[in-house]
Amino acid sequence: MKISHKFSSLFHLRSMLPSFFLILSCMISSSPQKASTKSPHHDFSYLKSAVSSLSNPPEVESKNQSSSSGMKSLVPDFDTDGRVWSREWSEEILKIAKKPENVKWIKSVRRRIHENPELAFEEVETSRLIRRELDELDISYRFPLAKTGIRAMVGTGSPPFVAIRADMDALPIQEAVEWEHKSKHAGKMHACGHDAHVAMLIGAAKILKAREEHLKGTVILLFQPAEEAGNGAKRMIREGALEDVEAIFAMHVSHLLPTAVIGSRSGPLLAGCGFFKAVITAEQSRALNLCHSADTVLAASAAVISLQGIISREANPLDSQVISVTFFNSGDDVDVIPNMVEFGGTFRAFCNTTFHHLLKRIQEVIVAQASVYGCSATVNFFKNTDSIYPPMVNDDRMYEHVKRAAVDLVGPTNFKVVQPLMGSEDFSFYSEVIPASFFFIGIKNETIGSVHSAHSPHFMIDENALPAGAATHAAIAERYLHERSVSISMLRQDKTFLT
Ligand SMILES: *[C@@H]1O[C@H](CO)[C@@H](O)[C@H](O)[C@H]1NC(C)=O
Ligand SMILES: *[C@@H]1O[C@H](CO)[C@@H](O)[C@H](O)[C@H]1NC(C)=O
Ligand SMILES: *[C@@H]1O[C@H](CO)[C@@H](O)[C@H](O)[C@H]1NC(C)=O
Ligand SMILES: [Zn+2]
Ligand SMILES: [Zn+2]
Repeated sequence: MKISHKFSSLFHLRSMLPSFFLILSCMISSSPQKASTKSPHHDFSYLKSAVSSLSNPPEVESKNQSSSSGMKSLVPDFDTDGRVWSREWSEEILKIAKKPENVKWIKSVRRRIHENPELAFEEVETSRLIRRELDELDISYRFPLAKTGIRAMVGTGSPPFVAIRADMDALPIQEAVEWEHKSKHAGKMHACGHDAHVAMLIGAAKILKAREEHLKGTVILLFQPAEEAGNGAKRMIREGALEDVEAIFAMHVSHLLPTAVIGSRSGPLLAGCGFFKAVITAEQSRALNLCHSADTVLAASAAVISLQGIISREANPLDSQVISVTFFNSGDDVDVIPNMVEFGGTFRAFCNTTFHHLLKRIQEVIVAQASVYGCSATVNFFKNTDSIYPPMVNDDRMYEHVKRAAVDLVGPTNFKVVQPLMGSEDFSFYSEVIPASFFFIGIKNETIGSVHSAHSPHFMIDENALPAGAATHAAIAERYLHERSVSISMLRQDKTFLT
């Protein structure tokens, strides 16, 4: 997950949510992190500058959810209780996950990966470890996809196909947690929990393999490289990860939810994220004719101010958006107006249309403001370096499916509807292709101190969440296939009836 610049992301909330803002602004002032000095080549691939916590606490509603009352099923107008999915199966899945030998094993998988963190597209040993475990489980797979990625398969080998995905890469962060399984590589750390994601997906593989004769189709397990940088998702898709797959799910650990609590929401969940860099130059002809009157610094400054007008005046205040200018470079000459000024930053939005509109307006505003001061401007959005991430919008039906599977598995009190977060994820690329749902699993436990946000050098997880995470993945996949097969056979019956 890519963490947001929370400072700017909160300003537009102020007028609407005064008390909420006060709480968060305390968090800001006590936050030790600040934007790091940018390297001159503006490497946008890792958002080192934004290591602080996700801006919005996810826990808002704790409704008394019951899995059987009025929720949409994958099978339209069909009472799923008892007839399609039995609670017994949820319990059996949980029982496998909680077997002491399996708990020990899933923790050991996570620890081995944690000790040996590998950055984007370098997940060679991580990938080897996964393949060894899959071999051990007698699960077949395709390798490589996207360099180090794996596409494993459990079930009948026939449709329907449903996918679950885990990301494998670590971050260029020095681990500050002193513990037995601390990262053995200086400057690299699993600070976003992708080690846990891999362990939980392998855990799910083991559960699904044990229940293979119950599967009414095929589960595809995707182990993806390069989520934090390099856009592994896009490359996985290009190399066939979603072949035949009709729906996909993914899970992310969250320090804002207590251990093993599952959280998600329908619709927009994570922001879309893009970067821009503007270059403002004095127009040669005018500069010469008008005695160097084109002031690039003034033009760039006006553009920076006007960009905030897009957020404060054009944007729907109920549709959160952020533009942050994060660097401004006009040299250091105190005597001469520079011929060229560069500035740039990041923008985020939750809705696809809004996100693309924002991109268009950033371009227009900068070019127009430059021309006001007799300058010209070009704006680069790094489209060809894969650094634009669309918003993660959960498909309503897939979200409902996650919710029902989780509620039946961990109980209604352990499922929370969460607020959207300003962070971004490349899982959104899968969601542009097929119906998808993203959800969180809590790893917060004050007793052991797992209270730090992702991308913090102090980040840690409560490993007691791992078995529940594996079981949730497995239940979502098995149940999806089950309900789909019922819906398909009903369609067939319908046809027979009609003809
Ligand atoms: C939640 O729902 C259950 C089952 O309908 C009910 O027994 C329980 O009292 C409810 N709890 C609350 C807090 O409403
Ligand atoms: C989002 O918008 C872009 C550009 O308009 C389009 O290419 C993409 O398919 C859209 N995604 C979704 C999920 O609608
Ligand atoms: C937090 O961790 C402690 C120590 O491992 C454990 O006893 C406790 O049950 C955990 N709390 C939760 C909510 O899981
Ligand atoms: Zn991350
Ligand atoms: Zn992440």
